[in-house]
Amino acid sequence: MDMRTDASRRAGATTVETGTQPSVNRLVVVSNRLPFILSVQDDGGCSLVPGAGGLVSALAPVLRNRGGMWIGWPGSTARNIPDLDRVLLNATRDSGYTLQPVELGEEEKEKFYRGFSNEIIWPLFHDLQSDCNFDPSYWNVYRSVNSKFAQAILATHRDDDFVWVHDYHLMNVAHELRSNGLTSRIAFFLHIPFPPLDIFAKLPWRFQVLTSMLDYDLIGFQTLRDRRNFIQCARLLDPDLSLSGKGQVTTLNTREREVRLGAFPIGIDYTEFAKKAASGDVTAMADLLHKDLPNRQIILGIDRLDYTKGIRHRLEAFCRALQRFPDMHQRVTLVQVVVPSREDIPRYHEMRVEIERTVGEINGQFTQSGWVPIHYIFRNLTRVELLAYYRASHIALVTPLKDGMNLVAKEFCAARIDENGVLILSEFAGAAAQLQRGALIVNPYDVEDVAEAIHHAFIMPDGERHQRMRKMRRSVREYDIFRWVDSFLRAAIAKDLGDFPLPEEYVPHMETVVL
Ligand code: F6P
Repeated sequence: MDMRTDASRRAGATTVETGTQPSVNRLVVVSNRLPFILSVQDDGGCSLVPGAGGLVSALAPVLRNRGGMWIGWPGSTARNIPDLDRVLLNATRDSGYTLQPVELGEEEKEKFYRGFSNEIIWPLFHDLQSDCNFDPSYWNVYRSVNSKFAQAILATHRDDDFVWVHDYHLMNVAHELRSNGLTSRIAFFLHIPFPPLDIFAKLPWRFQVLTSMLDYDLIGFQTLRDRRNFIQCARLLDPDLSLSGKGQVTTLNTREREVRLGAFPIGIDYTEFAKKAASGDVTAMADLLHKDLPNRQIILGIDRLDYTKGIRHRLEAFCRALQRFPDMHQRVTLVQVVVPSREDIPRYHEMRVEIERTVGEINGQFTQSGWVPIHYIFRNLTRVELLAYYRASHIALVTPLKDGMNLVAKEFCAARIDENGVLILSEFAGAAAQLQRGALIVNPYDVEDVAEAIHHAFIMPDGERHQRMRKMRRSVREYDIFRWVDSFLRAAIAKDLGDFPLPEEYVPHMETVVL
C-alpha cells in the first residue's frame, strides 16, 4: 500500500526526493502536441486554449516543482506567427514551466503527422495492417521531423535535464539525440499498444524503428502484453538479446547498452473526477437526463471518431441484442457520443458516414412511438455534460477493437459516486488487464458475445452491480495518474532495479489473464 499523501504525490515530491533514489532535475516533456491548442486568426493574431487531458494535469505539478519545459507542435501549420512567443509565455506564466514550439509546415503535417504517424503506425500498432498506407515518401519526413524535435531539445539542453518523450510520433527522437552526441538519460512512453511480431514485421522500416527505440534508456508501455510484444520484436534484431529482472521493469541488454522496459498502465485524476461528478450542476443535469428518459436504462458509448474504437461493431451488437432480447424494447436507450477527430483524413470521414448510416438503419428498424433506441451525438461534450452522462448511465459500452488503455472506462468508474453502473469492456483495451475483475469482458468482434453482455448487464441485480463497481473504483483510485508519473520516474532514475519499490498488489492487476 502506498502510504504517501495525495498532496505529496500530486507535487511529485516523493518521486524525486525520498529514499536513496537519485533525483530528476529539470524535466523536459516532449510530445507531438503542446498541452495548448493554438488558433490563428485571419489577421495573423493568435491565441492558445489549454488542451484537456490527464497528461497535462499529471505532469503540470512535477513541472512546477522541478521547473521544466514542454516541447511540441502547437497544432497549426501557419509559419512565423509574430505573436507566438509572447502568447506561449503568457499561457504558462504562473505554471513554473515554459513552452517550446516545434513548427511544422504543410508537407511535414501531411507526411509526418497524417502520413507516417496516422496512416502507418496508428493502424499497424492497433493490429489493422490492412488499413496501412506504406507510402515510401513518409519515412524520410518522419525522420526529419523527429530530428527537428531533437534539435529543439538540444537548443536548450542542460546536462542534468531529464528528457521524457511521449508516443508514436516521436519514436526516433532518442536516436537523433544520440547521433548528436547526447549521452544523458532519455525516457519514452508509448501511449498506444505495441503490436505482436507478425504484425510489426510488416513495417518496411521495422529495423530502423526498433534500433532507434533502443536508444532510449527507459521505454514504458501500457501493459505487460505490449512489453512482451516489443521484446519479441527486438529479438528480430538480435536473437541473443538478454533480459534481466522480472516484474514491472526489466532490463534488456543489447550489445551496446542497457535499456529498461516497463509496464506502466496510465491512470486518471480520480479524485478530481469524483469531486466534479458530485457537483451540483452535474447532479442537476444527470437528473434531467433521467427525467427525459423515464423507465429506461441508458447505455453509453463515448468515443473519439476513430476506426480502432469499434463503433460500427458495437452498433451491430446493439442491433443484435434488440433482435434477440425483446424485453429490452422501450426499456433501453443507447446514447452514442462521437467526438470529432482527425477529420481531414479521408478514412475518418468515411467512418463517420458509415456510423451515421448504421444508426439511421437501426433506428428505422426499431423506433416505436415514444422510443428511439439510439440517441446519436456528434460533437465535443462539455465537462459537465460528460460527467452527467457518466452518472446517468446504467451501462457503459467500451468496446474498442484495440486500445492502449482507454480512459473512458476509468472515467466512467471514477464518476460513479453511487458505486453503481455496469462496465462492458473489450478484452483488447489495455484497461482490461486492470478492470477485468469488475467489468463484463467481451470480444468486440464477436457480435453475439457483446449482445449477450448487453442483456446480462441489463438484467444484472443491483447487488452485483455495486460489488463489481466497487472493485473497479478501488483500482482506478489506487493506480491514478499521479502514481503513473511517480512510478515511471522512479523506474527511470533508480540506480538498482532490485530495489525498485513495487507495491505488492500492483503486479496481479497488470497480468492479462483474459486470453
Ligand atoms: O490516443 C492517441 C492520441 O494521440 C491522443 O494522445 C490524442 O488525444 C488523440 O490521439 C488525438 O490525437 P491527434 O488529434 O493529435 O491526432
